[in-house]
Amino acid sequence: MSLAWKKSAIAMIAAGMLVGSMAACSTERDSGTDAGAGDGDDETFVGIAMPTKSLERWNRDGSHLDGLLKDAGYETSLQYADNKVDQQITQLENMINQGADILVIAPIDDTALAPTLQQAADADITVIAYDRLLLGTPNVDYYATFDNYGVGKMQGEFIVEALDLENAAGPFNLEPFAGSPDDNNAKFFFAGAWDVLSEHLDSGKLVVPSGKAPSSNDDWQSIGVQGWSSETAQSEMENRLNSFYASGTQVDVVLSPNDSLALGIAQALAGNGYAPGDEYPVLTGQDADKANVLNMIAGKQSMSVWKDTRALGDQVAKMIDQIVAGETVEVNDEETYDNGEKTVPTYLLQPQVITPDNVDVLVESEFYKAGDLGL
Ligand code: GAL
Repeated sequence: MSLAWKKSAIAMIAAGMLVGSMAACSTERDSGTDAGAGDGDDETFVGIAMPTKSLERWNRDGSHLDGLLKDAGYETSLQYADNKVDQQITQLENMINQGADILVIAPIDDTALAPTLQQAADADITVIAYDRLLLGTPNVDYYATFDNYGVGKMQGEFIVEALDLENAAGPFNLEPFAGSPDDNNAKFFFAGAWDVLSEHLDSGKLVVPSGKAPSSNDDWQSIGVQGWSSETAQSEMENRLNSFYASGTQVDVVLSPNDSLALGIAQALAGNGYAPGDEYPVLTGQDADKANVLNMIAGKQSMSVWKDTRALGDQVAKMIDQIVAGETVEVNDEETYDNGEKTVPTYLLQPQVITPDNVDVLVESEFYKAGDLGL
């Protein structure tokens, strides 16, 4: 595939797959109520439980939401649990004991918090699941996230366009990866992508030399990477390259569900002699993490799916204002997110495809400074 063709395909994809423009501004808090929301409600204590500081996006998520709430006069406790489930449970129990009124939780393991959430319910605490759903409990009131299935669909569609699977003869060598087995989002990311790619696997245009192709969407955890670890993804990709590509067979495309995995996979590719250029595989990602945007600019990653975490924080802050004010909490999806005990009222935001040809979107929205990206 000529580099020029690849670049023009990528440009078309970025233009065609633009899904709404992200209003990446901090919305004016709805202070139209007298319940104090948005204007110094220091009676309301909000606990914010984030999974880890080790993945870039959660640092942005936590600091943005905490800043919004503090500026509005709420009392807050922002905690990161280093991807340790027991630590997150302890942090949540402390927030409950300290008298939290609302808990905003991005779980490490989305099935592990049911007993803790029962304690929250007993204390009449409202619970908002943040970006990752809380499973197996009736004690979650709202969910705010990006369209997770849509993220995967964008990744799948990008691959179809970049390889021109509708017209090219193939076969192309694909290596698929999935996210952490304990993260419900990873199920949706995989399903979105696999629903797009399956017809091309069935036709033989896509083949998986390692054999690590889940038999169905439900089998996604068979290629899951625990804790979204870059290191684990790197060693898995190295194993596949050494075991199934030693004879000179080339990888043509890697489905990576997010940027932390893509970072490790890019390292493995580099260590195996793959250099940016015509023969470099199509490599997907998600989160538009800085290191990955730099890799995209350097030709080591083809795309990422940008979820403007400021918009997610803005929406959750608005939901908190509405809860405190006793208003109807705005949601836009009351059907998709069945957590095993209930269908959780959800506010879905729309993500956007980022490629080397539209990274300026990240600078224009002030998500990054031009200097951050060497622009
Ligand atoms: C997911 C999240 C993604 C991804 C991953 C790693 O739940 O939706 O943005 O980055 O976690 O934190």
